[in-house]
Order: sequence, then structure tokens, then C-alpha cells
Amino acid sequence: MTQTTSNPLRLDNLKPRGAAIESSNRSQTSAEPSTPANVPIKMETNNLQLFYGKKQALKGINTRLASNAITALIGPSGCGKSTFLRCLNRMNDLVEGVRIEGEVTLMGENIYAKGVDVVALRQHIGMVFQKPNPFPMSIYDNITYGPRLNGIKKKSELDEIVETGLKGSALWEEVKDDLKKSALALSGGQQQRLCIARALATKPEVLLMDEPCSALDPISTLKIEELMRELKQQFTIIIVTHNMQQAARCSDATGFFLLGDLVEMDASSQIFTDPKDKRTEDYITGRFG
Ligand SMILES: Nc1ncnc2c1ncn2[C@@H]1O[C@H](COP(=O)(O)OP(=O)(O)O)[C@@H](O)[C@H]1O
Ligand SMILES: [Mg+2]
Repeated sequence: MTQTTSNPLRLDNLKPRGAAIESSNRSQTSAEPSTPANVPIKMETNNLQLFYGKKQALKGINTRLASNAITALIGPSGCGKSTFLRCLNRMNDLVEGVRIEGEVTLMGENIYAKGVDVVALRQHIGMVFQKPNPFPMSIYDNITYGPRLNGIKKKSELDEIVETGLKGSALWEEVKDDLKKSALALSGGQQQRLCIARALATKPEVLLMDEPCSALDPISTLKIEELMRELKQQFTIIIVTHNMQQAARCSDATGFFLLGDLVEMDASSQIFTDPKDKRTEDYITGRFG
């Protein structure tokens, strides 16, 4: 069971922090954080570097990720978007031979600090993957899996978590009479919304989504986009997408990754109409990538 008493990552007494920490060996090419100073910041990265063995996959990434907003990460394949996303909830800890330097903060607390309870951290920062990955069990059991691990046993409480989660992920009307049905029998789009409901069941602060629509048809994709707009009222969403229209349509901020660098991150309206860097412009207009 989760031991929280010794966990320094306590969200109740954390305050958003104003400025990024200056770092002497900050990469020259990486973009400076450019979120306006008065926007509440949920997460920050300061000179975040990641090495897979000798290969450097992130080259000093500085970001400020706004609360209750959707931040889209775009860029060609292999540029470090998924690697960056996985750093935000310490999923890369599980990869052998990885070395991570710099800092990632959640409401001002370094999530890589000694003694951080990684299981508790991942409940604050949920993740949805490219391929829907429901567990081979019922719809109901998928959603209650995390809460049960946390010790919730009362049926009425679990029932409520299921209903709230499925309503939150816009799946309730389609499955409310079939909660005992296997999750594997759902369509791809429904499975992805179930995975979102499962991620929401532990009441995260932040939702990370790695190309959540790339395996879905256009109608399911629009449903997920609609859902993200709803969810950002309550959550901070960070999404990797290859779909420029999707990033332009539904994100508040967009960051462009290229070969392990964050070239620039700015308001999406800015990035998609008047990017500062020629490389961003070339990418979004389809000249390369
Ligand atoms: N587990 C891993 N081990 C070694 N190299 C990896 C691993 N995961 C990703 N990489 C490498 O890191 C770079 C960035 O990959 P990734 O973050 O998946 O990019 P993207 O999501 O932008 O396509 C690529 O060169 C990729 O080959
Ligand atoms: Mg990826």
C-alpha cells in the first residue's frame, strides 16, 4: 500500500512558483520558458536532460506548463516528445541505462528529489497512451483497479467512482447498462475513453496523453478533443500529437521539439500563425518532418 507519511511530495501545502531556476549549463539552443508570468504554473522543467546510455535524447528542456490548460507537443518522430512526457511522471525511471539531469517540478516541488513516492506521484500525474490499453477485465473493474489498490472497498463509493469517471470521459451513456462487459469488447474509441476514465479515477492533477488519437477514427478523435476541452476545467493536460489541426484546434500552448531540443513553446495562436523560429515555421507548413 502507498506509504504517504514520509512522502515529501505533499500537494496541500505547495505553491506555484514564479520563476525558473537559472542553470549555469543551460543549453544554448533550447527555448526559454515563455508562459506569461501571471498564468498559474502547474509543472516546470529546468534544464532537463536525458541520456539513453551515451545518446542524449533531451538537451536541456526549459518549460512552464500552465494549470487548467492544454499544452500540445509537436515535432517529427524520434525528437524526444514521448521521452519528455515520460519524464513528467517518472516513467523513464523504469528504462534501463537512463540518466536524467536537471529538474522537474510539480507545484514547485522537485519530483526527482530523494524520497518522493513515485506511486503517489503517478496518481497525481496520470497517463494515457497511444494504443488504448484496457486491462483484460470488465469496464467496472478497469476503473476501480487504482482506487481498490488505494484501499477503497465500499461498493457505493466504487460505484460512484465508476459513474463519475465514465461521465467525465463521456462514455457513461454508451456503457452504463453494460458495466460487467469485458473492456476488450469495446470499440477503439470507447477503449481510449475508458483508459481516460481509468486515469481520472485516482483524481490526478495532470493528465499526460501520448498521441491518444492516432489509433482512432475521425469521429472518435473529435469526441476525445471535446472531452479534453471539458477536462481542462479541472485538470492540466499535456498531449503529444502528430496532428497539426488538432494542436491548433484544441491546445492553449504548443511546444515544438526537434532532435532533443525544444525549439520554441508559446501560445498556440502564436505558434500556428507567427512562429519565431524558422524551423517551427518549416515544420508546421509541412516543409519538413
Ligand atoms: N527506451 C529507449 N532506449 C533507447 N533509446 C530510446 C528509448 N526510447 C526512445 N529512445 C530514443 O530517443 C529518441 C527520442 O525518442 P522518443 O522520445 O520516442 O521520440 P518521439 O516521441 O518524439 O517520437 C529517439 O532517438 C529514440 O530512438
Ligand atoms: Mg513518441
